[in-house]
Amino acid sequence: MNAPSASLPGGTWTLGDLTVPRFGYGAMQLAGPGVMGPPADHDGALAVLREAAALGITHIDTAGAYGPRVTNQLIREALHPYPASLHIVTKVGAVRDQQGGWIPARQPEDLRRAVRENLADLGLESLDVVNLRLGDALGHQPGSIAEPFEALVELQQQGLIRHLGVSNATAEQVAEAQAIAPIVCVQNMYNLAYRQDDELIDDLAAQGIAYVPFFPLGGFTPLQSTALSTVATRLDATPMSVALAWLLRRSPNILLIPGTSSVAHLRENVTGAGLPLSDEELAALDKIGH
Ligand SMILES: NC(=O)c1ccc[n+]([C@@H]2O[C@H](COP(=O)([O-])OP(=O)(O)OC[C@H]3O[C@@H](n4cnc5c(N)ncnc54)[C@H](OP(=O)(O)O)[C@@H]3O)[C@@H](O)[C@H]2O)c1
Repeated sequence: MNAPSASLPGGTWTLGDLTVPRFGYGAMQLAGPGVMGPPADHDGALAVLREAAALGITHIDTAGAYGPRVTNQLIREALHPYPASLHIVTKVGAVRDQQGGWIPARQPEDLRRAVRENLADLGLESLDVVNLRLGDALGHQPGSIAEPFEALVELQQQGLIRHLGVSNATAEQVAEAQAIAPIVCVQNMYNLAYRQDDELIDDLAAQGIAYVPFFPLGGFTPLQSTALSTVATRLDATPMSVALAWLLRRSPNILLIPGTSSVAHLRENVTGAGLPLSDEELAALDKIGH
């Protein structure tokens, strides 16, 4: 694998002391249907990860809950031993039930177990970045995060975690985490059509903290909008490309982790995110989420 590629769109960002390309890869789609069980095409999943590496993508987003444990084991199988340039960002704070539900698991012992499992499945002695996944199946939920976040800080002090972040967090929870220990990223749902975090993104940008939108392409329901399709048609591009290019333009602290189980889509997304957007197109796109 190469160092972060200069040819990836968007340049690089620094997560604490780790340099990553702004174009990363989200591994959730590599697990089986409903993010449960193994992929239908095991070799195809390995090929996507290896293609990401070949393209110079050195930021991979994952979680022990994907599969569960499936995407982490695929990452290890495809890419271990890892080059020093590769930074795997994982999440703890949720487990899966038999039906595939996402169950909050944020007691200190749950978090310690989750960190141990991530380390074992990924084949690492220390995790570069761990996000505390908050909220529940309905999205973010208010409330203090002190107890689980302090449990992660303890693991960080033991050397098992390099940097911390939060996910599915309200602005108040981000501030609460920061009052306890430094964070390097916030991973929340955000895309062209869902812009609840506009203010938070600008606030984090001013502090030099990354904002990593999940569902950048709409997640399980692809983004659909007439304005988006109009701009895409005018540029002879796909709506996905326009959506990714818009995110890179939205703010310099936005890191992309679009998910795909397809090598062809991965390549398309890398090319698409580099699409130049004029001020006029940006203005048309800006209206979608408002
Ligand atoms: N913190 C959290 O709570 C949380 C929640 C959800 C996700 N995440 C993270 O965020 C990452 C991104 O989210 P996501 O993967 O759920 O959603 P996404 O990136 O918004 O969209 C992924 C979907 O878009 C499709 N797709 C991707 N590229 C495409 C292309 N060029 N043309 C057509 N379809 C395309 C994929 O299908 P194909 O497989 O067919 O390409 C997949 O169905 C995840 O991988 C995960 O790491 C975090």
